[in-house]
Amino acid sequence: MRLRRYTRGGSTSRIGTANRTNGGDGECRRREKPITTERPIMTVLVTGGCGYIGAHVVHALHEAGERVVVVDDLSYGRPDRIGNARLYGMDIAAPGAGERLGEIMTDEKVDAVIHFAARKQVGESVAKPLWYYQQNINGMLNVLTGMTRSQARRLVFSSSAATYGVPPVDVVPEDVVPMIPINPYGQTKLFGEWMARACEKPFGIRFCALRYFNVAGCGPVELEDPAILNLIPMLFDKLREGKAPLIFGDDYPTPDGTCVRDYIHVSDLADAHLAALRYLDRDERKYDAFNVGTGEGTSVRQIVDEVKRVTGLPFREKVTERRAGDPPHLIGSPKRINEEMGWHARYGVKDIVESAWAAWQANPAHHIAVENWTQTN
Ligand SMILES: NC(=O)c1ccc[n+]([C@@H]2O[C@H](COP(=O)([O-])OP(=O)(O)OC[C@H]3O[C@@H](n4cnc5c(N)ncnc54)[C@H](O)[C@@H]3O)[C@@H](O)[C@H]2O)c1
Repeated sequence: MRLRRYTRGGSTSRIGTANRTNGGDGECRRREKPITTERPIMTVLVTGGCGYIGAHVVHALHEAGERVVVVDDLSYGRPDRIGNARLYGMDIAAPGAGERLGEIMTDEKVDAVIHFAARKQVGESVAKPLWYYQQNINGMLNVLTGMTRSQARRLVFSSSAATYGVPPVDVVPEDVVPMIPINPYGQTKLFGEWMARACEKPFGIRFCALRYFNVAGCGPVELEDPAILNLIPMLFDKLREGKAPLIFGDDYPTPDGTCVRDYIHVSDLADAHLAALRYLDRDERKYDAFNVGTGEGTSVRQIVDEVKRVTGLPFREKVTERRAGDPPHLIGSPKRINEEMGWHARYGVKDIVESAWAAWQANPAHHIAVENWTQTN
C-alpha cells in the first residue's frame, strides 16, 4: 500500500478577499493547526466531479494529496475543472452503468466514492418527475451496484435540505419530524439516502449523506458555477442585463419580510466532504446523515445589500410576488457535524458574495463593466 507524508492545514488557500478567520482584508488562511501524520493515499471516485461542487471537492482532494478519478457525462460539467484526475465520460443512470462503474472501480482500485452526479433543479423536477426519478434513483442504484462489484466500501452522498420539505422549525436538526420533501428532486435525495442505508449491512458499505443548505461562492475562479439558478448568480445576471434584481416576496413572517436561508461557502462544503471521508474510517459512527450549514440565517434583503456593497453598483431592486413553495426560513443546525466530524464553517456571507463576484467578473461571458453601468428598468 502506498504511503505518503500527509500534511493538513499548513497550506494557504485563497477563496476571496476576507474570511471568518482573519475577519479583514487580505489572504484567507486555514484555521487548523498543521497536523502531520502518515496514512495511505486514497483513490476517490467522484461522480459529477466536473460540476460546480464536485470540481471544488476534486480540488480539495488533490490539495490533500489524494488520487482522484472522475465520472461525468459532461451534461453540465466541464472537463477542464478537474486538474490531472482521470475522467470517464458516461451517463451513470444508463442501463448497464452499474456494471461499468464496477469495472472502473476495480481497475482504478477505488477506496471511496463521493456521489454528486444528479439532476438538481427543483422546478424542472416538478415538470419532469419521471425523468428525475430515472436519473437520480438509477444513478444511485448504479453507484451502489458498482461498489458491490468492487472493493470500494465508503460512500459520501450529496443530499440536500430539500429532503426536509417545509420543516416545522426554523433551525432544522437532522432528525426533525415529519420529514416530507415537497418536490420530486427532494424525494430522490431522501430515497437515495434510504437506498445507501439499506446497503450498509448486507454489503458492508460505510455511508454518510451530507445535506447541503444554500451553497454559494467560489474557490479558484475557474471553478465558478456557470448556472444561473441560485440567488447570487441571479442577482448578478440581472445586473449584467442592466435590469433590477428581483426579490420574490417581502411579506414573509421574518424580520425584514424576505426569506431567510443558510448560506454555505462551497469551499467549506468541500472541506466537509474530506471530513466525511475521515469519519467513515471510524468503526464507531453514531449517525449517517449530516447537515452542512452554518446555523445562521441571512435574508434575501441582506444578500441584496451585500451585493450592493461588494459590486459598488447603485442598483434599485424590485419586489415581486412570492414564489410557490418557498418556506420563510430554512436554516440547518450544524451541531451534529460540528461535534461528530469536527467540521465548522470558516467563511461567512461577506466571503461568499466577494468570492462569487470575483469569479463572475473573471468570466468573460459574465463580466460587467462597472464603470459604464446603468440601470435600464
Ligand atoms: N448546488 C446546490 O446548491 C446544491 C444544494 C444541495 C444539493 N446539491 C447536490 O449536489 C450535487 C452537485 O451539485 P452541483 O451544484 O455541483 O451541480 P452541477 O450540475 O454543477 O454538477 C453535477 C455534475 O454531474 C454531472 N451529471 C449529472 N447527471 C449525470 C449523469 N446521469 N451521469 C453522469 N454525470 C452526470 C453533470 O454533468 C455535472 O458535471 C447534486 O447531486 C445536487 O443535487 C447541490
